[in-house]
Amino acid sequence: SRESEGGKWVLMTTAQTPTNIAVIKYWGKRDEALILPVNDSISVTLDPSHLCTITTVAVSPDFEKDRMWLNRKEISLSGARYQNCLREIRSRANDVEDKEKGIKIAKKDWEKLHVHIDSYNNFPTAAGLASSAAGFACLVFALANLMNVKEDHSQLSAIARQGSGSACRSLYGGFVKWSMGKEKDGSDSLAIQLADEKHWDDLVIIIAVVSSRQKETSSTSGMRETVETSLLLQHRAKEVVPKRVLAMEEAIQNRDFVSFAQLTCNDSNQFHAVCLDTSPPIFYMNDTSHRIISLVEKWNRSEGEPQVAYTFDAGPNSVLIARNRKTAVSLLQRLLFQFPPNPETELNSYVLGDKTILQDAGIKSVEDIESLPQPPEISSSFQKYQGDVSYFICTRPGKGPVVLPESEALLDPKTGLPK
Ligand code: DP6
Repeated sequence: SRESEGGKWVLMTTAQTPTNIAVIKYWGKRDEALILPVNDSISVTLDPSHLCTITTVAVSPDFEKDRMWLNRKEISLSGARYQNCLREIRSRANDVEDKEKGIKIAKKDWEKLHVHIDSYNNFPTAAGLASSAAGFACLVFALANLMNVKEDHSQLSAIARQGSGSACRSLYGGFVKWSMGKEKDGSDSLAIQLADEKHWDDLVIIIAVVSSRQKETSSTSGMRETVETSLLLQHRAKEVVPKRVLAMEEAIQNRDFVSFAQLTCNDSNQFHAVCLDTSPPIFYMNDTSHRIISLVEKWNRSEGEPQVAYTFDAGPNSVLIARNRKTAVSLLQRLLFQFPPNPETELNSYVLGDKTILQDAGIKSVEDIESLPQPPEISSSFQKYQGDVSYFICTRPGKGPVVLPESEALLDPKTGLPK
């Protein structure tokens, strides 16, 4: 059998990792280099069949340096965030043996072996849907598998955290808490699963991808400016979030949608208030985002209790969480009524993801959108905003990272280069 020294071989692992949406937001760091937050956060993992990153990592004695491709383009690995993740994973590597392929890698060999990484998102990166969260989680998870790292998902999350804070929450499915921790070295700042995706499977999630003309402030620099200038953030981190996190954990355990929705909406609104309290102020939501909030608030009010929760990250896209399928169907009808597609847009490219919601809404073509009835809670002076939403994605809470079969690899098993 061939040894790891010399001889042509490539060993690979391919993994799939979900993205997540925070319902209690992470905003602000107490340590920039280690990525340690000023408060706990809680998220819902989104179904990876609709939104995920797939990453193949490969090792070979023939590779001359570490290289990475993202969405088919080679990118630099020289940034501190990549270097930190690679170093932390390598230092935990163990002996690896693939008897079938006759490959043996000793623990100490990993320091001198180089890796190739090929990563792609199954959703448009331009949509601004937290691709870095799924990306760093997938990188760390795939490398951990390749290098036979024995640490559990929580410990891996503390490594993914050093790539991008929100990435640590993508190491688990379902409902996840990122504990801010108190150690200086960040060893206790990691993700834990509150409940898996089956715990509350009534929930349906509809994402409105909102067209925006301007480039938004990145989360990293936005939260740095907030930490430097906002007094409201200090109040939020010290007084508001600790209580809200406890209430949210309870709402999730009890599947208490009314509390869950109130906490989610309040926390999204406070996050955007904190952005407005930053100097100079940061605006992430736009008129379309505000109109979606109004639509949901009016409908929730008319129903007497929340049917839908909304939350917005560092951009204008709206993530709407409906209490069950029936409300999701009504929600989609309302959204399509108020935000019909531009002419020539096909229904198939306007509503993506789980299309069964669309079927249940009785919508088979764009013409069916035009004949949707006006929802009773909408005032007669309403306006339609054709084309203000680029498209919708229907999804649900989903599972955590998984290893995929070799047939799904993005790298060629012979050369270790992109296929
Ligand atoms: C608004 O995780 O993208 O989405 O840690 O600097 O990489 P870095 O920031 P990032 O910030 C996410 C902020 C947010 C809220 C959240 O996901 O909790």
